Amino acid sequence: MAQQRSTFPSGGRDAVTRRIMDNSPARRRRSGAARHLLLSVAFLACSSQLLVVNANSWWSLALTPIQRPEMYIIGAQPSCSQLSGLSQGQRKLCQLYQDHISYIGEGARMGIKECQYQFRQRRWNCSTVDNSSVFGRVIQIGSREAAFTYSISAAGVVNAISRACREGELSTCGCSRSARPRDLPRDWLWGGCGDNVHYGYRFAREFVDAREREKNYPRGSTEHARTLMNIQNNEAGRQAAYNLANVACKCHGVSGSCSLKTCWLQLADFRRVGEFLKEKYDSAAAMRIGRKGKLELVDKRFNAPTSEDLVYIDTSPDYCLRNDTTGSLGTQGRMCNKTSEGMDGCELMCCGRGYDQFKTYKHERCHCKFHWCCYVKCKRCTSLVDQFVCK
Ligand SMILES: *[C@@H]1O[C@H](CO)[C@@H](O)[C@H](O)[C@H]1NC(C)=O
Ligand SMILES: *[C@@H]1O[C@H](CO)[C@@H](O)[C@H](O)[C@H]1NC(C)=O
Ligand SMILES: *[C@@H]1O[C@H](CO)[C@@H](O)[C@H](O)[C@H]1NC(C)=O
Ligand SMILES: *[C@@H]1O[C@H](CO)[C@@H](O)[C@H](O)[C@H]1NC(C)=O
Repeated sequence: MAQQRSTFPSGGRDAVTRRIMDNSPARRRRSGAARHLLLSVAFLACSSQLLVVNANSWWSLALTPIQRPEMYIIGAQPSCSQLSGLSQGQRKLCQLYQDHISYIGEGARMGIKECQYQFRQRRWNCSTVDNSSVFGRVIQIGSREAAFTYSISAAGVVNAISRACREGELSTCGCSRSARPRDLPRDWLWGGCGDNVHYGYRFAREFVDAREREKNYPRGSTEHARTLMNIQNNEAGRQAAYNLANVACKCHGVSGSCSLKTCWLQLADFRRVGEFLKEKYDSAAAMRIGRKGKLELVDKRFNAPTSEDLVYIDTSPDYCLRNDTTGSLGTQGRMCNKTSEGMDGCELMCCGRGYDQFKTYKHERCHCKFHWCCYVKCKRCTSLVDQFVCK
């Protein structure tokens, strides 16, 4: 594993950049193959043990201190061997990059939060269970929803690590050193301290995919298909976070004249990443394992997915009814909107089972007045509103 440390993060950063920037499929195939070779060598060296399938995941790093006290032993770094949910390779990365671990947790938390926001009005709402499987067993099905959770949490790690680099929190990275964009106006300065998305991307690839790369399922098996699916969706998430990062600038100059600008690379607002990946969820490609042991489209008439697209291999379970086999929680007790014709409408949300109506008090700010200068004063109004809950 010492070898791992010397090849990462200093080496190969440019190769990663090229790989992401370069859209030529031929080129991507070639560098993809090279990368695969490199990684299999690295992982042969450090873990040849076959892992049992288990529902635990690094996502559990997102749990709060109360849920996992072992991470917050006063005066001590969390001991990587005590953290549940990590695979062997992830545990080794944990040892090498101890200061990254709480940011990985933060990335997972961001991903989960964003997932719950994007799916708040859907039958499956990205709810979590409070053990180290985090999303419960429903994610063991290789559905579109699983695809989304993998991608958004990988994107969360890119975000959290890139930002931590910029803020000087990590010993192995600092501000972004990406080249000045060609189209930046000549008199604008380039070189504010930017989010280090190159590093964030690379680290997230090492860490998040580690578990998948350790698996050694027979080529062409269902488990192998799921591994390929996870790797593809992790990558799509990382690329979303990476590609949506953009130039941000600040004005200088006499009394806000903005005659001088300093610019740097900045991560997109994570909500935008969530929206982007939600669109990818809507257009996710149904795949199956082909004879060559690669994923292929179920319906060949569609365009083959690119590395930015989400893919899935199983149809979604029925999210209407609670089912302990699939892990579906069902929609009984969910709130719905009587007048909406969308997924949050009572008809669709309650799957035709009907709904109960309640009256509840709703408190809100009202009659707001602007006072010179400068505050807004509001009253608190209470109204009786109808609420609808699925049977
Ligand atoms: C986690 O909790 C869920 C529901 O609370 C349960 O179905 C599942 O078996 C638990 N998983 C583990 C690994 O304990
Ligand atoms: C739960 O889901 C499984 C798999 O789809 C199905 O075979 C089973 O009948 C379901 N059980 C219930 C109680 O609906
Ligand atoms: C999500 O769905 C679960 C199960 O139906 C429910 O318990 C939970 O309250 C829902 N969360 C939100 C934010 O609606
Ligand atoms: C319910 O849906 C309607 C139509 O989409 C919308 O105008 C309204 O704001 C929604 N109500 C709530 C409480 O979300």
